[in-house]
Amino acid sequence: MTDQQDQPGATRSPGATIADTLRSDAVPPPQPLLEARNEYMGDSDIPFARYTDQAFFDREMNSLWPRCWQWACREEHLQDVGDTYVYDVGRYSVIVVRSSPDEIKAFLNTCTHRGTRLLGYQGGGYSGGFRCPFHGWSWQLDGCIDNIPGRWDFPHVSDETHGLQPVQCELWGGFVFINMDPEAAPLHDFLDVLPDHFQHFPLDQRRIRLHVQKTLPANWKAAQEAFIEAYHNFETHNSPNGGNAQYDIFGDFVTRFIHNLGNYSPESLVDYPGEKFREPVMTEDELLRSMTFFGHGKSEVGPGETARSVAAAGLREQLGTKFGIDLSEVSDSIMLDSIEYHLFPNMFFFPGINVPMVYRFRPNGMDVDSSLFDFVILEPLSEGATHPEPPEPHILDVEQSYTEVEELGWLGPVYDEDTGNLALQTQGFKTSRKQGLTLGNYQESRIRRVHLTLDKFMDEREQGASNE
Ligand code: FES
Ligand SMILES: [Fe+2]
Repeated sequence: MTDQQDQPGATRSPGATIADTLRSDAVPPPQPLLEARNEYMGDSDIPFARYTDQAFFDREMNSLWPRCWQWACREEHLQDVGDTYVYDVGRYSVIVVRSSPDEIKAFLNTCTHRGTRLLGYQGGGYSGGFRCPFHGWSWQLDGCIDNIPGRWDFPHVSDETHGLQPVQCELWGGFVFINMDPEAAPLHDFLDVLPDHFQHFPLDQRRIRLHVQKTLPANWKAAQEAFIEAYHNFETHNSPNGGNAQYDIFGDFVTRFIHNLGNYSPESLVDYPGEKFREPVMTEDELLRSMTFFGHGKSEVGPGETARSVAAAGLREQLGTKFGIDLSEVSDSIMLDSIEYHLFPNMFFFPGINVPMVYRFRPNGMDVDSSLFDFVILEPLSEGATHPEPPEPHILDVEQSYTEVEELGWLGPVYDEDTGNLALQTQGFKTSRKQGLTLGNYQESRIRRVHLTLDKFMDEREQGASNE
């Protein structure tokens, strides 16, 4: 072992790295995928109380959710003037609306008379204006007062004092982000490398093909942490992939993993006991067949080719035709791999073509042990095409299976596996004598980054409030 490997957090799994694979790809990756950046942030346990305590949940409800940027919807939900989207998080509700052909605005979903929630639904809708169901106060789409019944009795009320309460609203990558904090710094200050990296993978030129929202029986952090590492692949998915996944920490707010699907480094499995993964090293033909579920349509690896290059080429043909776009320049890694960027506190963006997801995790009302998981598949849009109407989301309750959503195909059982451990984990948190989670220094480093940022974010805002 070298000195460097002796440093905590510097050790990596044996065998080929992701960077080795990407460097040998037939169509090479864009520069951002060749970057590898990680840091050691300590190895202390993460207290279970952060997931289970009402007091910690309440602290997040005061110092995180009303102060942080989070995507509420896609711009394509708001195509026409009057299109609305209602986004709820914990006890808060925000209306996002296209108030004019080139403006999107957001407001707290509450009446400025006696507080009644204005729009009762969640998700997409349409409003010519906003009218409170209690006494009929109404506002125009820009939040200005339209009418107050019995106006003579309210000489003390004006747009300045009783217009709808504005919420900050910005666009990035075709997503509409909101921030309820009027003092919040611009969204761009929180995106770290995302604008730079996603220049190569523009998400605004995509459309929502599928949206599934499911209630999960776990705190929102535990739920998202089931998707933030590939270390669980061996046991949860019975898959040999993931031992050599790459984990990057780009800043306080953005982390990433890159994980090859349908390809793995057998050496990275040396210390997994049992026969489960003691397969002979697969030939390139076998590797190609192991990726058949991608639908690449190829069966043989020719001389000078690899399973990855053949599968990627097959997918370029299949998906290029399906989407009506030219994918010839798109790298093998973007065609094949699970590449996942996390944006603090609760969002995941995948630049991939075959694995093109976006996730969002948030508290389900005020229940500390329950969360809502939005899972969106973003499909590339052919050049010059306008966005079609987004599909209605499939809403799954906690007991329902992802396999009920036919369009998910092979992903349905995978998401059932991912979410199937959460109720047990929530129970286990509460029975443990040990006080917290223990994390791997590298493979679970993204979990630690989120917790450190969460503390820093809430401390700074609470500090600011106490200085006022
Ligand atoms: S509470 Fe909304 S109009 Fe009275
Ligand atoms: Fe998984």
